[in-house]
Amino acid sequence: MSRAGRVADAFRAVFGTACAGVWSAPGRVNLIGEHTDYNGGSVLPLALPHRTWAAAAPRADGLLRLHSARFPGELVQLAVAELAPGAVRGWAAYPAGVAWALRRAGYGTGGADVHVETDVPLGAGLSSSAALEVAVALALTGLAGRAFPAGYAARLQLARLTRDAEHAFTGMPCGIMDQAAALCCTTGHVLHLGTRDLALRQVPFDPAAHGLRLLVVDTRVVHALRDGAYAARRAGCEAGARALGVRLLCDLTPSQLDWGLWELAPPLRPLLRHVLTEEERVARVVSRLEAGDPRAVGESLTAGHASLRDDFAVSCAELDLAVSVACRAGALGARMTGGGFGGSAVVLAEETDAAGVAREVGAAFAAAGHRPPRVFAVEPADGARRDR
Ligand code: GLA
Repeated sequence: MSRAGRVADAFRAVFGTACAGVWSAPGRVNLIGEHTDYNGGSVLPLALPHRTWAAAAPRADGLLRLHSARFPGELVQLAVAELAPGAVRGWAAYPAGVAWALRRAGYGTGGADVHVETDVPLGAGLSSSAALEVAVALALTGLAGRAFPAGYAARLQLARLTRDAEHAFTGMPCGIMDQAAALCCTTGHVLHLGTRDLALRQVPFDPAAHGLRLLVVDTRVVHALRDGAYAARRAGCEAGARALGVRLLCDLTPSQLDWGLWELAPPLRPLLRHVLTEEERVARVVSRLEAGDPRAVGESLTAGHASLRDDFAVSCAELDLAVSVACRAGALGARMTGGGFGGSAVVLAEETDAAGVAREVGAAFAAAGHRPPRVFAVEPADGARRDR
């Protein structure tokens, strides 16, 4: 039986009735373009094969009943009309926030029963939150009689709504990359998204076809973006933009970097340097991929890691170790991915070197006394969809 079929069966076991449909959304890794999505810059994520599923059925009484396979037997029950920021804690804040944002935007969300399951690693910097938000957003809009948003404009509108939901209900001031990736990524491509105007382009990226492997190294250091460090970086970037008289740091061109560094207070300088040099790295990676030369992106990945480690200061010992050992073991390039402070790294390696790289990283973690990392290869997968 398909996974969606099993999720539908689980819904019936929990709620005692059939669901009206099953929807799913993937986690993501970002190839490059980190901490640029709240600065008007570009990002380059790909969807993981790991997904979150939401089976749902409408209710006439305005109640939202939420069940997660992770917490069997626990049913969260909320009145949709009474949802408000701050009112819901724990995992249910994500789907509740989505119901609140959709209703506020006039999507007419009524009551629903929702069962969710995931195989996106949690707390690994692979966007399990956005996968949950987007799967639930598709389920609730589907139940409200909205056709699945086929065009990118409609999907990006949903990305904005789910991002706003996360801001309001969990206090995490994220950018739009993760929700946009969950909604707009396609098999065989990275998504080149400009976050100022939300212009997007699908850029071919098929590591296997080139004899390459893209590895994800989950350090199993649970990243805690909500501890304020992410918000502090974002606030620093906004303060820098204000001081330089622009709305967003990426309103500056790379040629204005030296002037900006001169103008800014010393603590804000490395933030500006990271953001503007990262924009150049994204452009370089896109042009190499479009030229059909994915091998050539490795160098930019590793340079991006150094910038996140030294200038943006969002790496950690385990991520630095994964990146340096992978490169020493022959990888073409490696970097931390996502918000940082733990979570995962991505490594680009020749297919023939990938197993050796994974082995060396594991050995280095053991020698340093870290928990064993989880290493797996990924190929770009499809974004959110209705599965049944
Ligand atoms: C987290 C946020 C994203 C983005 C990344 C850093 O994943 O949710 O919006 O800012 O960090 O690139």
